[in-house]
Amino acid sequence: MGNGASILVVEDDAAMRDLLTEELGDAGYEVKAAASAAAGLEVSRAERFDLVVTDLRMPEMDGFDLIRGVMALPEPPHVVMITAFGSIETAIRAVKLGAYDYITKPFEIEELLLVADKALGERGLRAKVARLQREVEATYGLGNIIAKSQSMRDVVSLVQRIAGSTASVLVTGESGTGKELIARAIHYNSTRAAGPFVGVNLAAVPEGLIESELFGHKKGAFTDARADKPGLFVEADGGTIFLDEIGELALPLQAKLLRVLQEHEVRPLGATKNQRVDVRVVAATNKNLEAMLADGSFREDLYYRLNVIHLDLPPLRSRPEDIVPLAEHVLRELGAKQNPPRKLRLSPEAQHVLLSYHWPGNVRELMNVLERCMALCQGELIADDDLPPHVRERRPADFLGAAVARRMSLAELEREFIERVLEDEGGNKTRAAQRLGLDRKTLYRKLEEYGRVVGETEAEAAPPVVDDRREPDRAEPPADLPRSTEATVPIPRVDPNADEFD
Ligand SMILES: Nc1ncnc2c1ncn2[C@@H]1O[C@H](COP(=O)(O)OP(=O)(O)OP(=O)(O)O)[C@@H](O)[C@H]1O
Ligand SMILES: [Mg+2]
Repeated sequence: MGNGASILVVEDDAAMRDLLTEELGDAGYEVKAAASAAAGLEVSRAERFDLVVTDLRMPEMDGFDLIRGVMALPEPPHVVMITAFGSIETAIRAVKLGAYDYITKPFEIEELLLVADKALGERGLRAKVARLQREVEATYGLGNIIAKSQSMRDVVSLVQRIAGSTASVLVTGESGTGKELIARAIHYNSTRAAGPFVGVNLAAVPEGLIESELFGHKKGAFTDARADKPGLFVEADGGTIFLDEIGELALPLQAKLLRVLQEHEVRPLGATKNQRVDVRVVAATNKNLEAMLADGSFREDLYYRLNVIHLDLPPLRSRPEDIVPLAEHVLRELGAKQNPPRKLRLSPEAQHVLLSYHWPGNVRELMNVLERCMALCQGELIADDDLPPHVRERRPADFLGAAVARRMSLAELEREFIERVLEDEGGNKTRAAQRLGLDRKTLYRKLEEYGRVVGETEAEAAPPVVDDRREPDRAEPPADLPRSTEATVPIPRVDPNADEFD
């Protein structure tokens, strides 16, 4: 007890005042005393107290006036009122005015100590909650989301626009693009911000436990259910539930989740009644849910329920404008946490390296790279060779990375892929079409679009041209890129409507 909290005792009876002051002091509190409500109010204006213990009946100004006075202070203390035995009405009035609790005369000193301890404990908790709340708001405030690129600015503006809505949101994007950050931002910038944000990673909960985790259970519902458990939907009542990795949810559970979303009610395992919940759902995945709809591993009706608002987070490599601002943001945050704090800057060469890399792990990977830099770099300036070798190696390691670096459009990518597959099949269009999942007529039409005019011989067919659309100021693609111009394939003369055209 005690732990240095400060208490003001306000009591006109000198003997009682001295007793309370002494006992509370012995319990480890810092205690001051005032002989009247007016004097008490004056000291509590001059210095901050955690708790005021006051008598009710005092001449001139009484305990009620004191409560009113201290409640108007910028940081009001908790108040415990001492009332006469049997006057429950005065106790109620005191609590209504803002007193934390009351004790009735006569009382044991132990009783007072207990109430004081409880009041101060609650006060500490309240202060902690308020601090955490401020911290959380600072972290997930929109100002903390780095969004220089148009695509991220669009995301942030959508988050703002949906603040007042309770519609479900589906957040998609590659791993490390900021899905969880956005999910929290949606909550903390919404009208439900004061309610709870409850997150669950569905990939991390064993399948057999998901139902009770989400919807709760009654004691005895299954062997390990030793007590009632409310479940995350109930915990999130009035707030937001974040269903991360929604693509991992098994089909039977998808059906149960759908029912909850439709009915706004949950039924804990083993319960006989449904419970109403008011919860906003934000789901996230890095899986391609449309592909899962197509192969039947994700329910279409659930998909449409979750996907009322869709936020697709672009990969970092497609928004290079964000890379340096993000890096600077991360360096600032990491630097402030060091002891002593550090201020690191990126050399222009290091910035260039960061901009050339393809960031398969997106923002999270960028953070890890910078954390490593911070540990290794001695000075204030991060040079390019402070960056890990695989990042410095500017060649995009994969075909898609190369395609991105070349700023290819989807149509160009498709064309290149089709031509590569055709080449791989030795020019056999039937097999190529099969492999591509296209019917032959479609493939034929596409080849025609590419300028492989049917009816021309191999020599006459114009080679496909890809690079002439690139703007002159863009960097040359690295030498190891797949080049469709090298893949000329013999195009025999055929009739597109004929059954066999190879
Ligand atoms: N635009 C941004 N501004 C500031 N920080 C960001 C931004 N995007 C992501 N981050 C930070 O990057 C890290 C990864 O983000 P987050 O965990 O939200 O990604 P994710 O998409 O959920 O990843 P995963 O798919 O791996 O779960 C977090 O520390 C997050 O705060
Ligand atoms: Mg995540």
